[in-house]
Amino acid sequence: MNERTLPRHIAIILDGNGRWATSRGLPRTKGHESGVHKVRLAARACHERKIPVLTVYAFSAANWSRPAEEVDNLMRICREFAEDAHDELVSRGVRVVVVGDIDDEVPTATRKATERLIADTAGGTSMTLALALNYGGRRDMVNAMRAVAAQARAGLLLPEDIDPVSVRRFLSTSELPDADLVIRTGGEQRLSDFLPFEAAFAELFFTETLWPDFSEATLDDALAFYARRQRRFGRTDEQVGRTATTAEIGSI
Ligand code: IPE
Ligand code: IPE
Ligand code: MG
Repeated sequence: MNERTLPRHIAIILDGNGRWATSRGLPRTKGHESGVHKVRLAARACHERKIPVLTVYAFSAANWSRPAEEVDNLMRICREFAEDAHDELVSRGVRVVVVGDIDDEVPTATRKATERLIADTAGGTSMTLALALNYGGRRDMVNAMRAVAAQARAGLLLPEDIDPVSVRRFLSTSELPDADLVIRTGGEQRLSDFLPFEAAFAELFFTETLWPDFSEATLDDALAFYARRQRRFGRTDEQVGRTATTAEIGSI
């Protein structure tokens, strides 16, 4: 694996916690509690493999419709992650950011622990870990469109000048590169409102492995899959063959 074949941005849809627990006769929350350790493992493994950006889908805007007790437990687990992973992420120089909306519905304790993690890791330069927390891709795009419309109304942007770059600037992922590789555990083959704009050209890796069973081997399978892909961004095989790196081809 070299720089040319390594994704710059891996985005993980961590799925299968509930089924992992249910198949063992445990409450679903036990699956989430097991799964959170794998978020730390994934961050560590990506850091060691020099992946610049990892985004993990921790809680979707649609997940609020789960039973209140499960939602409360998920929010508690998110808080505990922010507290427990704090020292390791600081010492590894990992910068943590949140994509999604932690201002509104997220309980104060979870929000505060997450904000502290963001503030204390702000100087990290070795890797970015983006936590997709209360994230919904459509909502993020609607928010961006509102901001673009407000600029147009204020006369700062002409409608004919609106392009992918001007829209992307207002997404909550604006500081992140496009996703190169999306991994979904748990066997489903769907995006569930994850990064609809940013993953437009991403390679998609689906595995039956349930998230609490995720390991470095799963990550390495996904990286090997990615390295075998030829990313064409609309061009022909011949054109791409002449281009030195996918970074040169660009995505938007
Ligand atoms: C993913 O596991 C965790 C979150 C969505 C927060 P699930 O809880 O969706 O697990 P399954 O899909 O029900 O097995
Ligand atoms: C996607 O998983 C959301 C997260 C991983 C946080 P879900 O389990 O909520 O997705 P669906 O319901 O199968 O689409
Ligand atoms: Mg699920």
